[in-house]
Amino acid sequence: MKKELRIQYDYFTNIVELEEENQYLIAKAREVAKKAYAPYSKFYVGASLVLENGEVILGSNQENIAFPSGLCAERVALFYAGSNYPNLAISKLVVVANGDLIAKEAVLSPCGSCRQVLLESQNRQEKMFPIYLVGQDDSVHIFSSIYDLMPMAFGK
Ligand code: THU
Repeated sequence: MKKELRIQYDYFTNIVELEEENQYLIAKAREVAKKAYAPYSKFYVGASLVLENGEVILGSNQENIAFPSGLCAERVALFYAGSNYPNLAISKLVVVANGDLIAKEAVLSPCGSCRQVLLESQNRQEKMFPIYLVGQDDSVHIFSSIYDLMPMAFGK
């Protein structure tokens, strides 16, 4: 017997098709990506995360000469939110990336560790939140929640 996993997500060819609030969050993520500390990979990632009270938390990737000591942009933002606003639910995450590690038309897809942390954040608040992945070419891939980026996850 074959079983199948299917995932559907929303795709927009350009950010101009999105509501203004989302365009604003993308602009903020791009701004913070410029502040990434990425001398080793030269890959600059920005994450903007919205809390249920409307507060926007930003994070960029922070590298280290001892490679595993660095942290991805998503987790910088998620852990900041968890540290400072443990009782506020996350209502949206936007991720952008800039650099040669991925093709211009490709979209950054969060790493496995970030997905596991996203899953924990969602489980903790018991409420799903969408994840917007924005390409360097301004295309947007919107996933309803981490469940769609992490099928059959441990801890679901
Ligand atoms: N990176 C992120 O910030 N987010 C991801 O989802 C994938 C990778 C960072 C880690 C490292 O600083 C650089 O991008 C190259 O892997």
